[in-house]
Amino acid sequence: MSALKNDLLLKALRGETVSRTPVWMMRQAGRYLPDYIKLRDKYSFFERCENPELATEITVMPVDQVGVDAAIIFSDILVVPQAMGMEVQLIEKVGPLLPQPVKGAEDLKRLCVPDVHERLHYVFDALKLTKQTLAGRVPLIGFAGAPWTLLCYMVQGKGSKTFDEAKGFCYQQPEVAHQLLQMITDTTIAYLKAQVAAGADTVQVFDSWGGLLSPQDFEVFSLRYIRQIVAAMKDVCPTIVFAKGAWFALEDMAATGAHGLGIDWCIKPELARQFAGSNITLQGNFDPAKLLSPVPEIEKAVKAMLKGFGRERYIANLGHGILPNIPVDHARAFVETVKAHG
Ligand code: CP3
Repeated sequence: MSALKNDLLLKALRGETVSRTPVWMMRQAGRYLPDYIKLRDKYSFFERCENPELATEITVMPVDQVGVDAAIIFSDILVVPQAMGMEVQLIEKVGPLLPQPVKGAEDLKRLCVPDVHERLHYVFDALKLTKQTLAGRVPLIGFAGAPWTLLCYMVQGKGSKTFDEAKGFCYQQPEVAHQLLQMITDTTIAYLKAQVAAGADTVQVFDSWGGLLSPQDFEVFSLRYIRQIVAAMKDVCPTIVFAKGAWFALEDMAATGAHGLGIDWCIKPELARQFAGSNITLQGNFDPAKLLSPVPEIEKAVKAMLKGFGRERYIANLGHGILPNIPVDHARAFVETVKAHG
């Protein structure tokens, strides 16, 4: 394996001094990129994920075209429920659909903790090919959904603003919920370890719906399982935890031993740092919709963000995934402003 020519991201995660702030964007592979949209006409979503050549091509696109300091493997968090035995469809312009959601103990019998090498080998093949193709240009990020966020989709069966059915399931059948969360956690630990064995330099856990829970319920239904994942990865690679909307848990998430914490745009950098403490790297937190502003406004807001977080233990990123309607030159302005900041 070739040594990395640009290891700014990994240095920042380890708390080492960097020559400049590293930058990447959540959901940078796909969506807003015209070359990706062309591929979408030819191949279904899961074809794009399951074909290592296509997944590699999409993963490398933002490195070539936008200049980010890291690649994130093209896949989806929902490949895990799929590998556990659920049917998952991705409907263009609508989102995920799981036609037979989990409603009770009976439904767990249809699910298993799979052999990830058997069910998710295509992700590892894509990581290996991407690693080769990148030839050390930038680090490669692996990822998985947090158990709570995956439970949301597995129980609700589709996207939702509130995921109230998933919450109701947890409050009405906590034992079944915990059984399911543990199955997801066991699968995820094996999955992330195998991603690192296949070439991922670091991994990010996406808890996109963590902020829907109260602080008490976040501890019980989410953080408990994230803690297990971070502990299992401790000697494997640096782990980044991103729980959107869960600013109230920054201190507890920092205490898991994660190397990085994703921050959304609903909290000031200074306050996020105060909650998280000085011993962890923060990543974020540009409002993705703010990339719709004119370029000079983007530059101004990015500089303010950089000033707010400071140079130490910081990775510039968005506060959530890039939106499909962002012009590529606006994404590039975001990245270039960070890179130009001395
Ligand atoms: O940089 C990347 O985008 C890498 C690959 C990636 C995808 N999904 C590809 C994808 C990553 C890291 C994800 C994570 C993901 N998937 C999350 C967590 C991050 C977040 O944004 O909150 C979640 C909640 C999902 C579930 C999911 N997958 C949804 C809700 C949707 C539909 C809406 C959307 O986000 O576009 C998907 C489909 C999906 N996953 C697309 C892509 C590029 C869009 C479908 C397409 O372009 O054909």
